[in-house]
Amino acid sequence: MHNIRKFVAPEIIFGDGAIELLGRYAVNFGANRVFVVTDAGIAQTGLLARTLDILDQAGVEAVVYDRVSPNPRDQEVMAGADSYQQSGCDVIVALGGGSPMDCAKGICVVSANHENILEFEGVDKVRVPGPPLICIPTTAGSSADVSQFAIINHTRERVKVAIISKTVVPDVALIDPRTTLTMDRNLTVYTGVDALVHAIEAYVSTASSALTDLHALEAVRLIRCFLPQVVEHPNDIHLREQVMLASLEAGLAFSNASLGAVHAMAHSLGGLLDLPHGECNALLLDHVMAFNYVSVPERYDRIGEIFGVRSTGLGEKERCAALVRAIRTFKEQLGIRPGLAGRGVHRRDVGELARKALADPCMVTNPRRPQLQDLEAIYEEAF
Ligand SMILES: [Fe+2]
Repeated sequence: MHNIRKFVAPEIIFGDGAIELLGRYAVNFGANRVFVVTDAGIAQTGLLARTLDILDQAGVEAVVYDRVSPNPRDQEVMAGADSYQQSGCDVIVALGGGSPMDCAKGICVVSANHENILEFEGVDKVRVPGPPLICIPTTAGSSADVSQFAIINHTRERVKVAIISKTVVPDVALIDPRTTLTMDRNLTVYTGVDALVHAIEAYVSTASSALTDLHALEAVRLIRCFLPQVVEHPNDIHLREQVMLASLEAGLAFSNASLGAVHAMAHSLGGLLDLPHGECNALLLDHVMAFNYVSVPERYDRIGEIFGVRSTGLGEKERCAALVRAIRTFKEQLGIRPGLAGRGVHRRDVGELARKALADPCMVTNPRRPQLQDLEAIYEEAF
């Protein structure tokens, strides 16, 4: 049975102008009134106004919920579910990056199951599917618009909780690269690196399959090629489209193959210090690769190949070192400064960070089984 694999995905509409189809999809779902989950940043870009306009033209009323912070919190989900229930809405639209989309998924779960969102932590804990969910991603990285993951901040414990369930796969993803033109340089870089980490972790995951490998490797190739270019030419819609496609493929891969130690450790870091998710991943990626390499060298060599690493004649140790160097060079090229210390992380936090990371469900599919001390050592190296 261990060779049997499942692959789930929403209905995907991809391309410049995809957002224009929102009205038609809302009507197809029989919507009388939709609940739009977004954040204050998106409201300022004009994308929210455009979205409401499209719904209005289709004759669909909308109620906006924008009290979502970066790293969405359990209370925001619960307050959102209350508002949803009082609003008379029957379809949910998520507009934004990973945070509004994950919050919207949480609202779907709570409104159908009537329990605190934290009760659904883990794999397949959601019993009743929620109302129809349409996602419109405005970043190219989180892939919450296609994934069966929702990541919510458990504020009391200061840890991120992963809810992994087929019921949080959106019904429709309207993926429009034009929406990503509003991202600034930092957001472009860190969401793009998040997508790269999704692809790499899916490819080396113990739950990978032929179907997920295909998408994972293509995503790595696209990001390596186009992310540095889009940082230089942020208004080029063709480049934005390539990075959006990379994010989509990385999302299809990781949603079905799950993730690994980078995400487990990034969730712990993001939960404790409220740091941006993509940044946490970027700081840890090369250090985790150096640790994991020995467990699946041929898989990491394949990623090295895409990054231009020449491995012929090299031993395993040298190949690993060359790959780690290539990833560090790529990070430098994107202007990412290394080092946890500069981000307000303290050495006294390492024990707690490692303990929480070890318990994260993403750790289950990491190719190498770490001990607590291994994780502490990786955090230390990332200082
Ligand atoms: Fe991620």
